[in-house]
Amino acid sequence: MSKSLQAIRGMNDILPEQTPLWRYFEGTVARLLDNYGYKQIRMPIVEFTELFKRSIGEVTDIVEKEMYTFEDRNGDSLTLRPEGTAACVRAVLEHGITGGGQVQKLWYIGPMFRHERPQKGRYRQFHQIGLEVFNLDGPDIDAELIIMTWRLWGELGIRDAVKLELNSLGTSESRGRYREALVEYLSAHHDKLDEDSQRRLKTNPLRVLDTKNADTQAVLVDAPKMADYLDDESRAHFEGLKARLDAVGIPYVLNPKLVRGLDYYSKTVFEWVTDKLGAQGTVCAGGRYDGLVEQMGGKPTPGVGFAMGIERLVLMLETLEQIPEEISRQVDVYLCAFGEEAELAGLALAERVRDELPNLRLQVNAGAGSFKSQFKKADKSGALYALILGDDEMAQQVVGFKPLRGQGEQQSIAWDALAAHLATCVVQG
Ligand code: HAM
Repeated sequence: MSKSLQAIRGMNDILPEQTPLWRYFEGTVARLLDNYGYKQIRMPIVEFTELFKRSIGEVTDIVEKEMYTFEDRNGDSLTLRPEGTAACVRAVLEHGITGGGQVQKLWYIGPMFRHERPQKGRYRQFHQIGLEVFNLDGPDIDAELIIMTWRLWGELGIRDAVKLELNSLGTSESRGRYREALVEYLSAHHDKLDEDSQRRLKTNPLRVLDTKNADTQAVLVDAPKMADYLDDESRAHFEGLKARLDAVGIPYVLNPKLVRGLDYYSKTVFEWVTDKLGAQGTVCAGGRYDGLVEQMGGKPTPGVGFAMGIERLVLMLETLEQIPEEISRQVDVYLCAFGEEAELAGLALAERVRDELPNLRLQVNAGAGSFKSQFKKADKSGALYALILGDDEMAQQVVGFKPLRGQGEQQSIAWDALAAHLATCVVQG
């Protein structure tokens, strides 16, 4: 196939054999968020470029080198969203739904776009489920977000494979004081820093803490610690969060170097990381951003949220073999009909059964075929039972009912009794 007709590097098709696991994952998260009282919001995937520059920060990797930005036919600069928080803040402001201190607990799902170097767990189009809470400023809601994800890991069977890293960045004032101290310290060790960190020291010094370079990491060992610069309010907030996690029994690791790659955070930041996926080990990350709404032109409005990478979590379910058995079966019953008359009767019968059992996964054979070929398709579909309609069955107004997986003989069931019979032998999803 010519290259121009292939998918773009780092942008993947999710094939039919993979979608059941995606839907299981997405369904599990959606149900959990419903149960905790979160409401879904859907934003466009394209926004004005300015939105991301203003919120994520001009000197972040995302804005500096990863955005898919283009001019549309009106000459406006637009960008495919690299994340969801900015657009969510824009949406709540535009619709005035956080005005007057209204609490909003929102979640979203969808594709995000970053021009990163693709590798396992890192793509150029990837998918997030994110959530954002507005107008709650206490540590109780930060704790709820983390507790909810902890529950999710439990439901998915991956709790033992993830670790929570936690830090507080303080208010912008305390962060400012810390930044000064850090710059002073790092400037004194300028020669020992890697090139990227030397550049970051000028543009975004806190990001130096994030470095993967061993020499710079060695310099950082004696660097000033953020925790020593926290103001009283941030410190109390952080203690409040930790006390709540302790009360629920959620283990965490304090990571004073956790700064996150987006500029809007204040106070709490956290990441759920795993060592099961290689280099791209962060499966869910977020934090508080109390200044962002105001920075984008709204009234002061506290905010906190996180986003999880669906590809990474699906990969984890596969790696840890936490794939529920029932999701691999997509058909309960497969109806085979032989001859034109049986085909017509089969169609009508299938619809009657669907009326009575709306959750039954009933597939009717299409494309006719011999007894052997229809049976092969029935078996391949993964169905538990085949229904058979041939001349004999038509004459007696019955259907042959044949178990395909376990033991058991073929039986004849009267058309009128079919739905009731199926209800007793198929557990419907
Ligand atoms: P983020 O850390 O940039 O935060 O992304 C969140 C998660 O998205 C990551 O932990 C990872 O699982 C996934 N992810 C990010 N980039 C990629 C990629 N290139 N390929 C695959 N997965 C990826 C945010 O986006 C913030 N908006 C989170 C947030 C919400 N903070 C507050 N509210």
